[in-house]
Amino acid sequence: MTAGGAEVSGYRPSSTGSRWGEGTELIVEIAQRAAQQAGVFLTARDVERLLAALQVTTNIWELAQRSTVPLLGICSVLRELIDRNYVEVQGERLRLTEMGEQLCRRAGIVPVRSVRCPSCHGRGVDIGVLGEVRDEFLKISADRPSAIRDYDQAYLVEEASLARVAFLLGKGDLEERDVLIIGDDDLISLAAGLTRAPRRILVLEVDERIVGFIRRVADRYGLPVEARVYNVCDPLPEELCHEFDTFVCDPSESFGGLTAFLTRCLLGLRGAGAAGVFGLSRHEASLRKWRDVQRWLLEREAVVTDIVAEFGQYHNWPYYREMRAWPLLPVHPVPERPWYQSCLYRVELLDRPHLENVPFSAEIFMDEEAATF
Ligand SMILES: [Fe+2]
Repeated sequence: MTAGGAEVSGYRPSSTGSRWGEGTELIVEIAQRAAQQAGVFLTARDVERLLAALQVTTNIWELAQRSTVPLLGICSVLRELIDRNYVEVQGERLRLTEMGEQLCRRAGIVPVRSVRCPSCHGRGVDIGVLGEVRDEFLKISADRPSAIRDYDQAYLVEEASLARVAFLLGKGDLEERDVLIIGDDDLISLAAGLTRAPRRILVLEVDERIVGFIRRVADRYGLPVEARVYNVCDPLPEELCHEFDTFVCDPSESFGGLTAFLTRCLLGLRGAGAAGVFGLSRHEASLRKWRDVQRWLLEREAVVTDIVAEFGQYHNWPYYREMRAWPLLPVHPVPERPWYQSCLYRVELLDRPHLENVPFSAEIFMDEEAATF
């Protein structure tokens, strides 16, 4: 069904055997109102997730992390919950009121639980396999250029970059492979290069500071890493099409941005059996966008082989007060720990897809769900 242009659907109480209690209709209504207000996709399940997370934290950043509700949706649902006295603001903290707790009980919403494995942080990979690469990489990345808003930059924490490399190793996507990396503020090229596993690593990156940094380090360590300045809106240079076995990217999450990055990455691949990984969050990509991305990939012969939830955590970026969501947040505590996280997608080609290698003019940083740009 639609409500004023914003779609609200799914996850309704079934007529028989529903675990939903009396609070259900109210939660559906809150989801609809909030979706309408924010112009983003939300379901009643999102409101439930937020209420489940509100039972374990009073901090908005942890709430975003624990609920996995899109950030703009969180702002909008919280506004509804605050207006209706289910949540109250205390200083920079958010608390369920007595009424809010009652609502959770009536609707059968229990506190969110963390079942994350403490030794791999839920990533399912052991970065210990990288041996000394780990320390070397930590030393190198201490001198990296700082994240800037011009290119929507936010860096993976070093451990997550290393985990991504370990993941690729485990999938057979690095050893003796030619690797294309489009956008590498996460310095995956250097971590992967230090393993000496790939045959060739080519970085295409829009930020000259990062290109320069990668070149200097690659040169100093004698790594098989090249870096060139490249804007993803431009066609992939002809000589790079179908030259690679593996791609890596961490696209900006507007649908236009995602498809721009993924088009260039898929164009770079040789064909059937070639593979790649990228990050996709829940903070700026609703499940509707997830569906659209998955469909887009399937239509281009790329099958999703793996999704590892919460694989990547990001350092807080210095420009957070300028981000789009900031004025919409009901509270403004300084984020003290990394909170933004992305899920790792791996795709593998069944065939070489037909893709047009044309300039891209659509907006790549902004769409209705973009919150941190
Ligand atoms: Fe584990």
